[in-house]
Amino acid sequence: MIRAAELIQRKRDGEELGAGELRELVLAYVRGDVPDYQMAAFCMAVYFRGLSPAETFALTEAMVASGRTIDLRGAVGRPVVDKHSTGGVGDKTSLAVGPIVAACGVPFGKMSGRGLGHTGGTLDKLESIPGFRIELSAEEFVAQVRDVGLAIIGQTADLVPADKLLYGLRDVTATVENVSLIASSIMSKKIASGADAIVLDVKVGDGAFMKTLDDARSLADAMLELGRLADRRVVCVLTDMDQPLGHAVGNALEILETRATLRGEGPDDFSELVLAASAHLLVLSDLGVDETEARRRAETSVQDGSALAAYERWVRAQGGDPAEDVLPAAPVVREVSAPQDGYVQTLGAIAVGTAALHLGAGRRTKEDTIDHAVGVRCLKKRGDAVAAGEAIAEIHARDENAAAQAADDVLAAYAFDKDPPFRRPVVLETIA
Ligand code: URA
Repeated sequence: MIRAAELIQRKRDGEELGAGELRELVLAYVRGDVPDYQMAAFCMAVYFRGLSPAETFALTEAMVASGRTIDLRGAVGRPVVDKHSTGGVGDKTSLAVGPIVAACGVPFGKMSGRGLGHTGGTLDKLESIPGFRIELSAEEFVAQVRDVGLAIIGQTADLVPADKLLYGLRDVTATVENVSLIASSIMSKKIASGADAIVLDVKVGDGAFMKTLDDARSLADAMLELGRLADRRVVCVLTDMDQPLGHAVGNALEILETRATLRGEGPDDFSELVLAASAHLLVLSDLGVDETEARRRAETSVQDGSALAAYERWVRAQGGDPAEDVLPAAPVVREVSAPQDGYVQTLGAIAVGTAALHLGAGRRTKEDTIDHAVGVRCLKKRGDAVAAGEAIAEIHARDENAAAQAADDVLAAYAFDKDPPFRRPVVLETIA
Protein backbone atom coordinates (compact mmCIF):
# COMPACT_ATOMS: atom_id res chain seq x y z
CA MET A 1 0.00 0.00 0.00
CA ILE A 2 1.43 3.37 -0.99
CA ARG A 3 2.26 5.74 1.86
CA ALA A 4 1.13 8.94 0.17
CA ALA A 5 1.28 10.98 3.39
CA GLU A 6 4.96 10.15 3.79
CA LEU A 7 5.77 11.22 0.20
CA ILE A 8 3.84 14.47 0.70
CA GLN A 9 5.73 15.15 3.91
CA ARG A 10 9.13 14.45 2.34
CA LYS A 11 8.36 16.71 -0.61
CA ARG A 12 7.05 19.38 1.77
CA ASP A 13 10.40 19.23 3.59
CA GLY A 14 12.35 19.63 0.35
CA GLU A 15 13.55 16.07 -0.20
CA GLU A 16 14.11 14.62 -3.64
CA LEU A 17 11.83 11.65 -4.35
CA GLY A 18 12.85 8.59 -6.31
CA ALA A 19 11.52 7.76 -9.78
CA GLY A 20 9.82 4.62 -8.45
CA GLU A 21 8.11 6.58 -5.69
CA LEU A 22 6.74 9.18 -8.08
CA ARG A 23 5.54 6.50 -10.47
CA GLU A 24 3.79 4.63 -7.67
CA LEU A 25 2.11 7.82 -6.47
CA VAL A 26 0.83 8.80 -9.94
CA LEU A 27 -0.39 5.32 -10.82
CA ALA A 28 -2.09 4.89 -7.44
CA TYR A 29 -3.83 8.25 -7.93
CA VAL A 30 -5.14 7.20 -11.34
CA ARG A 31 -6.36 3.87 -9.87
CA GLY A 32 -8.23 5.81 -7.18
CA ASP A 33 -6.03 4.53 -4.36
CA VAL A 34 -4.78 8.03 -3.55
CA PRO A 35 -7.59 10.54 -3.00
CA ASP A 36 -7.75 14.05 -4.50
CA TYR A 37 -6.98 15.73 -1.17
CA GLN A 38 -3.64 13.96 -0.86
CA MET A 39 -2.72 14.62 -4.48
CA ALA A 40 -3.68 18.28 -4.05
CA ALA A 41 -1.39 18.50 -1.00
CA PHE A 42 1.38 16.87 -3.01
CA CYS A 43 0.93 19.39 -5.87
CA MET A 44 1.09 22.25 -3.35
CA ALA A 45 4.30 20.82 -1.87
CA VAL A 46 5.72 20.65 -5.41
CA TYR A 47 4.50 24.19 -6.07
CA PHE A 48 6.60 25.50 -3.15
CA ARG A 49 9.56 23.08 -3.23
CA GLY A 50 9.82 22.40 -6.99
CA LEU A 51 11.03 19.21 -8.64
CA SER A 52 14.58 18.43 -9.73
CA PRO A 53 15.13 17.65 -13.44
CA ALA A 54 15.29 13.93 -12.57
CA GLU A 55 12.01 14.14 -10.63
CA THR A 56 10.37 16.11 -13.46
CA PHE A 57 11.36 13.40 -15.95
CA ALA A 58 10.18 10.63 -13.61
CA LEU A 59 6.82 12.40 -13.16
CA THR A 60 6.48 12.79 -16.94
CA GLU A 61 7.29 9.11 -17.54
CA ALA A 62 4.80 8.08 -14.86
CA MET A 63 2.11 10.19 -16.49
CA VAL A 64 2.84 8.68 -19.92
CA ALA A 65 2.69 5.20 -18.33
CA SER A 66 -0.76 5.95 -16.87
CA GLY A 67 -2.40 5.31 -20.25
CA ARG A 68 -1.84 4.10 -23.79
CA THR A 69 0.68 5.55 -26.21
CA ILE A 70 0.54 5.96 -29.97
CA ASP A 71 3.36 5.00 -32.30
CA LEU A 72 2.71 7.58 -35.04
CA ARG A 73 6.03 7.09 -36.80
CA GLY A 74 5.50 3.33 -36.97
CA ALA A 75 1.98 3.72 -38.35
CA VAL A 76 2.70 6.55 -40.78
CA GLY A 77 6.12 5.24 -41.81
CA ARG A 78 7.75 8.68 -41.40
CA PRO A 79 8.42 11.19 -38.66
CA VAL A 80 5.27 13.15 -37.75
CA VAL A 81 5.38 16.71 -36.41
CA ASP A 82 3.24 18.48 -33.83
CA LYS A 83 2.93 21.93 -32.33
CA HIS A 84 1.65 22.98 -28.93
CA SER A 85 1.07 26.27 -27.19
CA THR A 86 0.94 26.98 -23.49
CA GLY A 87 -2.30 28.88 -24.12
CA GLY A 88 -3.27 32.42 -24.90
CA VAL A 89 -5.89 34.80 -26.27
CA GLY A 90 -6.65 34.61 -30.01
CA ASP A 91 -4.23 31.73 -30.40
CA LYS A 92 -5.32 29.82 -33.50
CA THR A 93 -1.76 29.11 -34.64
CA SER A 94 -2.07 25.32 -34.97
CA LEU A 95 -5.05 25.70 -37.30
CA ALA A 96 -2.87 27.49 -39.86
CA VAL A 97 0.45 25.73 -39.15
CA GLY A 98 -1.02 22.24 -39.71
CA PRO A 99 -2.21 22.95 -43.29
CA ILE A 100 1.02 24.78 -44.24
CA VAL A 101 3.20 21.95 -43.00
CA ALA A 102 0.95 19.34 -44.65
CA ALA A 103 1.02 21.32 -47.92
CA CYS A 104 4.83 21.12 -47.74
CA GLY A 105 4.59 17.32 -47.56
CA VAL A 106 5.18 16.77 -43.84
CA PRO A 107 2.61 14.80 -41.79
CA PHE A 108 1.12 16.75 -38.87
CA GLY A 109 -0.78 15.04 -36.06
CA LYS A 110 -2.03 16.83 -32.98
CA MET A 111 -4.20 16.09 -29.99
CA SER A 112 -5.61 19.25 -28.60
CA GLY A 113 -7.50 20.66 -25.63
CA ARG A 114 -10.43 22.89 -24.84
CA GLY A 115 -10.15 26.38 -23.48
CA LEU A 116 -10.87 27.32 -19.91
CA GLY A 117 -11.15 30.83 -18.52
CA HIS A 118 -9.83 33.62 -20.72
CA THR A 119 -7.84 31.32 -23.03
CA GLY A 120 -9.50 29.70 -26.04
CA GLY A 121 -9.08 26.04 -26.98
CA THR A 122 -8.30 24.71 -30.44
CA LEU A 123 -11.09 22.13 -30.19
CA ASP A 124 -13.71 24.81 -29.47
CA LYS A 125 -12.58 26.72 -32.55
CA LEU A 126 -12.79 23.62 -34.72
CA GLU A 127 -16.27 22.84 -33.43
CA SER A 128 -17.56 26.10 -34.89
CA ILE A 129 -17.13 24.44 -38.30
CA PRO A 130 -20.42 22.66 -39.12
CA GLY A 131 -20.00 18.89 -39.08
CA PHE A 132 -16.38 18.88 -37.86
CA ARG A 133 -15.64 15.77 -35.76
CA ILE A 134 -13.01 16.17 -33.07
CA GLU A 135 -13.66 12.80 -31.49
CA LEU A 136 -11.81 10.38 -33.73
CA SER A 137 -10.53 7.14 -32.24
CA ALA A 138 -6.78 6.74 -31.97
CA GLU A 139 -6.93 4.39 -34.97
CA GLU A 140 -8.86 6.93 -37.09
CA PHE A 141 -6.40 9.64 -36.02
CA VAL A 142 -3.40 7.63 -37.15
CA ALA A 143 -5.10 6.65 -40.43
CA GLN A 144 -5.95 10.27 -41.20
CA VAL A 145 -2.40 11.51 -40.50
CA ARG A 146 -1.16 8.75 -42.84
CA ASP A 147 -3.73 9.25 -45.63
CA VAL A 148 -4.53 12.99 -45.49
CA GLY A 149 -1.30 14.23 -43.89
CA LEU A 150 -3.10 16.19 -41.19
CA ALA A 151 -5.36 15.51 -38.21
CA ILE A 152 -6.21 17.54 -35.12
CA ILE A 153 -8.46 15.83 -32.60
CA GLY A 154 -9.48 15.86 -28.96
CA GLN A 155 -7.36 13.89 -26.57
CA THR A 156 -8.65 10.34 -26.22
CA ALA A 157 -9.65 9.38 -22.68
CA ASP A 158 -7.11 6.57 -22.49
CA LEU A 159 -4.11 8.78 -23.32
CA VAL A 160 -2.36 10.24 -20.23
CA PRO A 161 -5.37 9.87 -17.91
CA ALA A 162 -3.09 11.08 -15.10
CA ASP A 163 -2.88 14.52 -16.74
CA LYS A 164 -6.63 14.75 -17.16
CA LEU A 165 -7.10 14.15 -13.43
CA LEU A 166 -4.14 16.19 -12.28
CA TYR A 167 -4.88 19.18 -14.50
CA GLY A 168 -8.46 19.35 -13.23
CA LEU A 169 -7.16 19.18 -9.66
CA ARG A 170 -4.43 21.79 -10.20
CA ASP A 171 -6.90 24.12 -11.85
CA VAL A 172 -8.96 24.38 -8.66
CA THR A 173 -6.14 24.21 -6.09
CA ALA A 174 -3.95 27.09 -7.34
CA THR A 175 -1.18 24.72 -8.42
CA VAL A 176 -1.11 25.22 -12.20
CA GLU A 177 1.76 27.73 -12.28
CA ASN A 178 4.72 25.52 -11.52
CA VAL A 179 7.34 24.91 -14.22
CA SER A 180 7.78 21.18 -13.53
CA LEU A 181 4.04 20.53 -13.34
CA ILE A 182 3.34 22.45 -16.57
CA ALA A 183 6.31 20.89 -18.38
CA SER A 184 5.35 17.33 -17.38
CA SER A 185 1.69 17.96 -18.22
CA ILE A 186 2.46 19.22 -21.72
CA MET A 187 5.31 16.86 -22.55
CA SER A 188 3.53 13.72 -21.28
CA LYS A 189 0.75 14.40 -23.78
CA LYS A 190 3.20 15.13 -26.59
CA ILE A 191 5.24 12.01 -25.87
CA ALA A 192 2.18 9.74 -25.57
CA SER A 193 0.53 11.04 -28.76
CA GLY A 194 3.59 10.03 -30.72
CA ALA A 195 5.04 12.95 -32.72
CA ASP A 196 8.80 12.89 -33.32
CA ALA A 197 9.35 16.63 -33.67
CA ILE A 198 7.51 19.32 -31.77
CA VAL A 199 7.43 23.10 -31.80
CA LEU A 200 6.39 24.44 -28.40
CA ASP A 201 5.01 27.96 -28.32
CA VAL A 202 5.63 29.32 -24.82
CA LYS A 203 3.45 32.38 -24.37
CA VAL A 204 4.85 35.25 -22.31
CA GLY A 205 2.98 38.18 -20.82
CA ASP A 206 -0.24 39.41 -19.34
CA GLY A 207 -2.46 36.79 -21.03
CA ALA A 208 -0.11 33.82 -20.39
CA PHE A 209 0.79 31.51 -17.50
CA MET A 210 4.37 32.77 -17.78
CA LYS A 211 4.38 36.49 -17.09
CA THR A 212 8.11 37.13 -17.58
CA LEU A 213 10.72 36.08 -20.13
CA ASP A 214 12.78 34.47 -17.37
CA ASP A 215 9.90 32.24 -16.30
CA ALA A 216 9.17 31.37 -19.93
CA ARG A 217 12.84 30.44 -20.45
CA SER A 218 12.72 28.12 -17.42
CA LEU A 219 9.62 26.39 -18.78
CA ALA A 220 11.19 26.12 -22.25
CA ASP A 221 14.38 24.64 -20.78
CA ALA A 222 12.42 22.09 -18.76
CA MET A 223 10.42 20.98 -21.81
CA LEU A 224 13.51 20.84 -24.05
CA GLU A 225 15.20 18.59 -21.48
CA LEU A 226 12.15 16.30 -21.31
CA GLY A 227 12.09 16.16 -25.11
CA ARG A 228 15.78 15.25 -25.22
CA LEU A 229 15.36 12.50 -22.62
CA ALA A 230 12.38 11.09 -24.53
CA ASP A 231 14.26 11.22 -27.85
CA ARG A 232 12.04 13.88 -29.45
CA ARG A 233 13.26 16.88 -31.41
CA VAL A 234 11.92 20.05 -29.82
CA VAL A 235 12.18 23.77 -30.56
CA CYS A 236 10.64 26.35 -28.23
CA VAL A 237 9.50 29.75 -29.44
CA LEU A 238 8.83 32.32 -26.73
CA THR A 239 6.09 34.58 -28.04
CA ASP A 240 4.29 37.73 -26.99
CA MET A 241 1.01 37.36 -25.12
CA ASP A 242 0.83 40.91 -23.74
CA GLN A 243 -1.85 41.50 -26.38
CA PRO A 244 -4.17 39.08 -28.21
CA LEU A 245 -2.62 37.25 -31.16
CA GLY A 246 -3.96 38.49 -34.49
CA HIS A 247 -7.25 40.37 -34.60
CA ALA A 248 -9.89 37.74 -33.86
CA VAL A 249 -10.79 36.38 -30.41
CA GLY A 250 -13.77 33.99 -30.55
CA ASN A 251 -14.27 30.68 -32.22
CA ALA A 252 -15.82 31.17 -35.68
CA LEU A 253 -14.07 34.56 -35.98
CA GLU A 254 -10.75 32.78 -35.46
CA ILE A 255 -11.59 30.21 -38.13
CA LEU A 256 -12.26 33.06 -40.56
CA GLU A 257 -8.92 34.63 -39.61
CA THR A 258 -7.15 31.30 -40.11
CA ARG A 259 -8.57 31.04 -43.62
CA ALA A 260 -7.57 34.63 -44.40
CA THR A 261 -4.03 33.90 -43.16
CA LEU A 262 -3.80 30.80 -45.35
CA ARG A 263 -4.72 33.07 -48.30
CA GLY A 264 -1.90 35.46 -47.32
CA GLU A 265 -4.33 38.06 -45.94
CA GLY A 266 -3.84 37.54 -42.21
CA PRO A 267 -2.75 40.01 -39.50
CA ASP A 268 1.01 40.66 -39.45
CA ASP A 269 1.79 39.23 -35.99
CA PHE A 270 -0.27 36.09 -36.50
CA SER A 271 1.11 35.48 -40.02
CA GLU A 272 4.67 35.90 -38.74
CA LEU A 273 4.20 33.39 -35.92
CA VAL A 274 2.50 30.88 -38.23
CA LEU A 275 5.31 31.07 -40.79
CA ALA A 276 8.04 30.91 -38.12
CA ALA A 277 6.49 27.88 -36.40
CA SER A 278 5.87 26.14 -39.74
CA ALA A 279 9.47 26.74 -40.84
CA HIS A 280 10.80 25.26 -37.56
CA LEU A 281 8.68 22.14 -38.08
CA LEU A 282 9.90 21.73 -41.67
CA VAL A 283 13.52 21.98 -40.43
CA LEU A 284 12.84 19.36 -37.74
CA SER A 285 11.09 17.05 -40.25
CA ASP A 286 12.71 14.57 -42.61
CA LEU A 287 12.75 17.05 -45.55
CA GLY A 288 16.41 17.88 -44.95
CA VAL A 289 15.94 21.64 -45.40
CA ASP A 290 17.55 24.55 -43.58
CA GLU A 291 15.72 27.47 -42.01
CA THR A 292 15.87 29.68 -45.15
CA GLU A 293 14.54 26.97 -47.46
CA ALA A 294 11.90 25.95 -44.89
CA ARG A 295 10.62 29.52 -44.63
CA ARG A 296 10.57 29.83 -48.44
CA ARG A 297 8.51 26.64 -48.77
CA ALA A 298 6.06 27.73 -46.06
CA GLU A 299 5.57 31.12 -47.75
CA THR A 300 5.16 29.51 -51.17
CA SER A 301 2.41 27.20 -49.87
CA VAL A 302 0.44 30.29 -48.85
CA GLN A 303 1.10 32.14 -52.11
CA ASP A 304 0.25 29.26 -54.45
CA GLY A 305 -2.94 28.21 -52.63
CA SER A 306 -1.69 24.77 -51.57
CA ALA A 307 -1.95 25.61 -47.84
CA LEU A 308 -5.61 26.62 -48.19
CA ALA A 309 -6.26 23.49 -50.27
CA ALA A 310 -4.66 21.39 -47.50
CA TYR A 311 -6.91 23.11 -44.94
CA GLU A 312 -10.03 22.29 -46.99
CA ARG A 313 -8.94 18.66 -47.53
CA TRP A 314 -8.33 18.26 -43.80
CA VAL A 315 -11.63 19.82 -42.71
CA ARG A 316 -13.57 17.63 -45.15
CA ALA A 317 -11.69 14.53 -43.96
CA GLN A 318 -12.99 15.23 -40.44
CA GLY A 319 -16.56 15.70 -41.67
CA GLY A 320 -16.60 19.51 -41.72
CA ASP A 321 -17.65 22.02 -44.35
CA PRO A 322 -14.65 24.28 -45.03
CA ALA A 323 -16.63 27.13 -46.64
CA GLU A 324 -16.70 30.53 -44.92
CA ASP A 325 -20.38 31.28 -45.38
CA VAL A 326 -21.48 28.26 -43.33
CA LEU A 327 -19.74 29.48 -40.16
CA PRO A 328 -22.06 30.81 -37.45
CA ALA A 329 -22.35 34.61 -37.41
CA ALA A 330 -23.46 36.78 -34.48
CA PRO A 331 -26.70 38.78 -34.93
CA VAL A 332 -25.24 41.97 -33.41
CA VAL A 333 -21.99 43.57 -34.58
CA ARG A 334 -21.00 46.80 -32.84
CA GLU A 335 -17.94 48.99 -33.33
CA VAL A 336 -15.75 50.39 -30.55
CA SER A 337 -14.31 53.84 -31.37
CA ALA A 338 -11.04 55.45 -30.33
CA PRO A 339 -11.65 58.15 -27.70
CA GLN A 340 -8.65 60.23 -28.83
CA ASP A 341 -5.95 60.66 -31.48
CA GLY A 342 -2.65 58.91 -30.83
CA TYR A 343 -1.17 55.42 -30.74
CA VAL A 344 -2.27 52.23 -29.06
CA GLN A 345 0.19 51.77 -26.16
CA THR A 346 -1.21 48.53 -24.76
CA LEU A 347 -4.10 46.17 -25.44
CA GLY A 348 -4.58 43.85 -22.46
CA ALA A 349 -4.83 40.22 -23.52
CA ILE A 350 -6.64 39.04 -20.38
CA ALA A 351 -9.14 41.90 -20.62
CA VAL A 352 -10.02 41.09 -24.24
CA GLY A 353 -10.11 37.34 -23.49
CA THR A 354 -12.43 37.99 -20.55
CA ALA A 355 -14.71 40.21 -22.64
CA ALA A 356 -14.97 37.40 -25.20
CA LEU A 357 -15.64 34.93 -22.37
CA HIS A 358 -18.50 37.09 -21.06
CA LEU A 359 -19.96 37.29 -24.57
CA GLY A 360 -20.16 33.49 -24.46
CA ALA A 361 -17.08 32.55 -26.52
CA GLY A 362 -15.50 30.61 -23.64
CA ARG A 363 -16.34 28.64 -20.53
CA ARG A 364 -16.36 29.69 -16.90
CA THR A 365 -16.82 26.10 -15.81
CA LYS A 366 -16.12 22.87 -17.67
CA GLU A 367 -19.87 22.34 -18.08
CA ASP A 368 -20.62 25.71 -19.79
CA THR A 369 -21.69 25.64 -23.42
CA ILE A 370 -20.06 27.92 -25.95
CA ASP A 371 -21.56 30.35 -28.44
CA HIS A 372 -19.29 29.82 -31.44
CA ALA A 373 -20.45 32.97 -33.27
CA VAL A 374 -19.53 35.63 -30.69
CA GLY A 375 -16.25 37.35 -29.93
CA VAL A 376 -14.12 40.41 -30.49
CA ARG A 377 -12.06 41.64 -33.44
CA CYS A 378 -9.27 43.98 -32.35
CA LEU A 379 -8.85 46.11 -35.47
CA LYS A 380 -6.09 48.22 -33.89
CA LYS A 381 -3.20 46.73 -31.95
CA ARG A 382 -0.18 47.95 -30.03
CA GLY A 383 1.74 50.60 -32.01
CA ASP A 384 -1.11 51.38 -34.43
CA ALA A 385 -2.00 55.04 -35.00
CA VAL A 386 -5.63 55.92 -34.31
CA ALA A 387 -7.80 58.97 -34.90
CA ALA A 388 -10.55 59.98 -32.46
CA GLY A 389 -13.80 58.27 -33.49
CA GLU A 390 -12.07 55.65 -35.66
CA ALA A 391 -13.14 52.01 -35.16
CA ILE A 392 -10.56 50.16 -33.05
CA ALA A 393 -12.50 46.97 -32.37
CA GLU A 394 -15.65 45.11 -33.36
CA ILE A 395 -17.90 43.26 -30.92
CA HIS A 396 -19.82 40.24 -32.23
CA ALA A 397 -22.62 39.53 -29.76
CA ARG A 398 -25.84 37.63 -29.22
CA ASP A 399 -27.79 40.77 -28.20
CA GLU A 400 -27.44 44.54 -27.73
CA ASN A 401 -26.93 44.37 -23.95
CA ALA A 402 -24.06 41.92 -24.21
CA ALA A 403 -22.55 44.02 -27.01
CA ALA A 404 -22.72 47.22 -24.92
CA GLN A 405 -21.03 45.60 -21.92
CA ALA A 406 -18.30 44.04 -24.09
CA ALA A 407 -17.73 47.37 -25.87
CA ASP A 408 -17.03 49.03 -22.49
CA ASP A 409 -14.74 46.17 -21.44
CA VAL A 410 -12.79 46.17 -24.70
CA LEU A 411 -12.38 49.95 -24.67
CA ALA A 412 -10.99 49.65 -21.13
CA ALA A 413 -8.46 47.07 -22.42
CA TYR A 414 -6.86 49.76 -24.63
CA ALA A 415 -4.42 52.44 -23.46
CA PHE A 416 -3.45 55.30 -25.78
CA ASP A 417 -0.65 57.83 -25.86
CA LYS A 418 0.46 60.56 -28.25
CA ASP A 419 3.78 58.80 -28.98
CA PRO A 420 4.16 55.30 -30.42
CA PRO A 421 5.38 52.57 -28.00
CA PHE A 422 8.49 50.49 -28.62
CA ARG A 423 7.78 47.84 -31.23
CA ARG A 424 7.91 44.31 -29.81
CA PRO A 425 8.08 41.38 -32.24
CA VAL A 426 5.68 38.46 -31.82
CA VAL A 427 8.53 35.93 -31.61
CA LEU A 428 10.64 37.11 -28.69
CA GLU A 429 13.15 34.27 -28.59
CA THR A 430 13.79 30.84 -30.05
CA ILE A 431 15.44 28.14 -27.94
CA ALA A 432 16.50 24.80 -29.40
N1 URA B 1 -1.17 23.39 -20.66
C1 URA B 1 -1.15 22.08 -20.28
O1 URA B 1 -1.43 21.19 -21.08
N2 URA B 1 -0.81 21.80 -19.02
C2 URA B 1 -0.49 22.73 -18.10
O2 URA B 1 -0.17 22.39 -16.98
C3 URA B 1 -0.52 24.09 -18.49
C4 URA B 1 -0.87 24.38 -19.79
